[in-house]
Amino acid sequence: MKQASISLSRQAVTDIVCHRNFVKLLDFEAEELQALLALAGRLKAAKKNRKERQYIKDRQIALIFEKNSTRTRCSFEVAARDQGAHVTYLGPEGSQIGRKESIRDTARVLGRLYDAIEFRGYSQESVETLAAYAGVPVYNGLTDEFHPTQILADILTMTEQTGCPPEKISFCYMGDGHNNIGNSLMVGAVKLGMDIRICGPPSLWPDEELTATCRDIAARTRASLTLTESVTEAVSGVDFIYTDVWVSMGESKEIWSERIELLLPYQVTMDVIRATGNPDVRFMHCLPSFHNRETEAGEEIFRATGLSELEVTDEVFESSYSIVFDQAENRMHTIKAIMVATLAEVPCEENGGGTQD
Ligand code: CP
Ligand code: NVA
Repeated sequence: MKQASISLSRQAVTDIVCHRNFVKLLDFEAEELQALLALAGRLKAAKKNRKERQYIKDRQIALIFEKNSTRTRCSFEVAARDQGAHVTYLGPEGSQIGRKESIRDTARVLGRLYDAIEFRGYSQESVETLAAYAGVPVYNGLTDEFHPTQILADILTMTEQTGCPPEKISFCYMGDGHNNIGNSLMVGAVKLGMDIRICGPPSLWPDEELTATCRDIAARTRASLTLTESVTEAVSGVDFIYTDVWVSMGESKEIWSERIELLLPYQVTMDVIRATGNPDVRFMHCLPSFHNRETEAGEEIFRATGLSELEVTDEVFESSYSIVFDQAENRMHTIKAIMVATLAEVPCEENGGGTQD
């Protein structure tokens, strides 16, 4: 694993340490994101070296999940436990949220009981309302619009793999550009001055207003933002190819056939890997992924369409190009950095470049 060279601004971390929400990347300055990435790297090294210190001991964190999760839930739980904090999981069933109690009231109740709240759900408005009324930091664990904690993990992974800072990294996001991952990758990449190419049919490119905002940011950060239908143009020379599912949680099953027709030309195959011209290119996916028939959903799609692999072939997913499990691990380290940065009352040594000894 190469050493990521992300610069760390002490001031930026100090600002983040205040009670901040983490509901979308648009709310953060590049320096703040850099600082969170650097903190995640330090916390990761500390855990690996068995020198982790607990900065949020006995904090109480509520985890609200309107949608299912493996990585995000487990990352919050493991990160909290490592740091001496405690979690309460509220799943899609079993609480009053949304059925008998509004988000605004839930926010005011949970804000009295907890030090922070994570929310995964449908509308971005819900997580923003929670943040507006809770009075404690609120973290977006995925909405239909954004998945900001995922993108921190992705960019940490890219810097580790290349040993380069974000502004020296290029990547292509292939497929459904207007989902939470496409939107959030676009924002994160332009904030950090990266070269991002979003490749897919124009009807699935990110929302025009968000794209315009990102173009303005890119002009300031010298990021490169390309939206294209051309696979050849999109992947030429990139460091990473990233894809996501073609139908996201909460979307109707009815759209599978339309999406397959639109996105099959954008499946990540070995030909796409070769078309980069970069022998060191790496494949990324936020997961879960439809790359074989070993799931109920995968089998169902196979029976309906005859396709046993969708957004990525099994060959690519299982190849040495694939770094999807390094990426998944980094969910935990980056989520830990967010909780530590927003909840630690004393500035932790990892923030300012101190060591763990
Ligand atoms: N990538 C991601 O958010 O995975 P989960 O849905 O398992 O949390
Ligand atoms: N776009 C996917 C991301 C899953 C982590 C979804 O929302 O289902």
